[in-house]
Amino acid sequence: MSVIDIAPVVRGAYLAKYSVPVIVAPSTKPVQQPVVSAPSASELASALADSELALPGDVVVEVAGETQVFSVHTLGELTPLPGARTAEARTAASRSAVVAGKVAVVTGGAQGFGAEIVHGLIDSGAFVYIADLNGDGAAALAAELGDRAAAITVNVADEASVAAMAEQIAATTGGLDLVISNAGIVRAGSVLEQDLSAFALTTDINYTAFFLVTKHLGGLLAAQHSAAPGWMTDIIQINSKSGLVGSNKNGAYAGSKFGGIGLVQSFALELVEHGVKVNAICPGNFYDGPLWSDPDRGLFVQYLRSGKVPGATTVDEVREFYEAKVPLRRGTTGADVMRAVYYIVEQAYETGQAMPVTGGQVMMSS
Ligand SMILES: NC(=O)c1ccc[n+]([C@@H]2O[C@H](COP(=O)([O-])OP(=O)(O)OC[C@H]3O[C@@H](n4cnc5c(N)ncnc54)[C@H](O)[C@@H]3O)[C@@H](O)[C@H]2O)c1
Repeated sequence: MSVIDIAPVVRGAYLAKYSVPVIVAPSTKPVQQPVVSAPSASELASALADSELALPGDVVVEVAGETQVFSVHTLGELTPLPGARTAEARTAASRSAVVAGKVAVVTGGAQGFGAEIVHGLIDSGAFVYIADLNGDGAAALAAELGDRAAAITVNVADEASVAAMAEQIAATTGGLDLVISNAGIVRAGSVLEQDLSAFALTTDINYTAFFLVTKHLGGLLAAQHSAAPGWMTDIIQINSKSGLVGSNKNGAYAGSKFGGIGLVQSFALELVEHGVKVNAICPGNFYDGPLWSDPDRGLFVQYLRSGKVPGATTVDEVREFYEAKVPLRRGTTGADVMRAVYYIVEQAYETGQAMPVTGGQVMMSS
């Protein structure tokens, strides 16, 4: 019986008992206390529910003859907030409190919007896995942020790699509360000219990977929920305004993002029975991020060189042209996206939604 089968159920039992997020870490130290035994992982939840579970403390679990020891603690003193964290919510907690002490994973967290979200979650008191193909970048950011951040090297388009990430999370914190599926790429190009390989890569990373991340991390959330039926968790896909309206000569990207919203709606319908809300955030352009502002390869300098903006002779003029397309006259920031994250996590009565954060550039009609 592997840790991925047991640890999420143990974590769920603590969530159910204490209504605060906990870290459940496998332990090698010998523990002198009664063993909670069950013939199978599926029967473990009720065995744990009937046991004394000390917090902080250790728990010894025996399933199908195999013993595992876990050490359980919280990140500081946490006040139970059942009203803000369960389906029965009636009142709103303060925004950042809704993620304090929670365990989150941010794919593509090493830079751009992902790094902004990582910083926001850390500032709000969460434990954050920075999961990125760029393992060095993720590790550097984790080292900068301290012991509430951990790096995971992952290729979200590769199933074995995503499964290994789920295993690593289960073996480190037992389970998790919030998945931010953010990793994404842009390969713009005319439908008449684009290589199939560029189209396929965009589809793999922006669309298929969201299926893989939801499959494997959603599995952890579901196992945890089996022992904590009142504990709601979130999967949030960072989509795009290009998931809501088409994008000229950028069909691979827009198609992958439109598809992502179909997955969000479908997964939301399915995972509700496991206490998981699934929503998308659709940001507008992040003009301060590397995709647009990198001085060598950013889109502003590329558009200046290619003459895409008629009459523009400087990067600033290209930027002004794009900012003028936004009713609120600026690009989307990490803080704008974080406010949407807080709202979605706090809002216990919404799932399957695609929330625009575009400064008014995209307005929903249905
Ligand atoms: N930048 C924008 O203007 C903008 C606008 C709307 C939506 N978005 C969306 O926001 C998300 C982040 O975009 P960004 O501009 O911050 O991107 P970015 O290129 O700055 O960062 C993307 C990160 O994802 C990582 N990554 C790429 N492929 C990966 C893979 N296969 N597995 C794991 N990690 C991988 C990269 O290493 C990088 O750290 C994307 O989904 C994007 O579509 C961006």
